[in-house]
Amino acid sequence: MDYFELIEKRESCRKFDGRAVEQDKLMRCIEAARIAPSACNGQPWSFILVTEDALVNAVRDAVQGQGMNKFCDNCNSFIVVIEEDTVLTSRIGAMIKHTDFKPIDIGIATAHLVLAATAQGVATCILGWFAEKKLKEAFHIKSSKRVKLVIALGYAASDTLREKRRKKLEDICIIKS
Ligand SMILES: Cc1cc2nc3c(=O)[nH]c(=O)nc-3n(C[C@H](O)[C@H](O)[C@H](O)COP(=O)(O)O)c2cc1C
Repeated sequence: MDYFELIEKRESCRKFDGRAVEQDKLMRCIEAARIAPSACNGQPWSFILVTEDALVNAVRDAVQGQGMNKFCDNCNSFIVVIEEDTVLTSRIGAMIKHTDFKPIDIGIATAHLVLAATAQGVATCILGWFAEKKLKEAFHIKSSKRVKLVIALGYAASDTLREKRRKKLEDICIIKS
């Protein structure tokens, strides 16, 4: 699969078939995130790979508030993405430029991660809707840290892809040539 096929193939899966994802595939996803670029190479991230039943249940509970993310009942692997401190140079750059580079870096790493999953036939859904407090309690994460995302990983119940609903290219791209 070339890169353009890969990005077409990735979509948010909301119907998993319940099969567990092999540990080596999950670790390759985290390896893909590990080599992502980041401001000043600050790498402000860490990942908790969750496949143990009781903790999977704790993640499901945390992502399913207010009736959201029900489809996670059929998902047996999650990766919790934590924002870590970055290097001094990135912190100084962030101060001078009034930009917090950490969420940008984490977004890029997450893109690496989910595309690595797609390349291995593993379906994902990035989840931004979760109870951070519940996750911090379940995984003993310091209160000063931030949980930024949870990624659900599993096998899709169907191979059929949805059409991508996106803004038109001409509406998002200005060409100055
Ligand atoms: C930061 C972020 C948070 C998201 N949170 C959720 C979520 O909590 N639940 C969900 O079902 N989808 C969530 N999504 C998936 C988006 O709805 C989805 O990416 C978007 O609609 C485009 O569809 P596609 O991923 O299938 O191409 C999230 C995506 C991102 C990037």
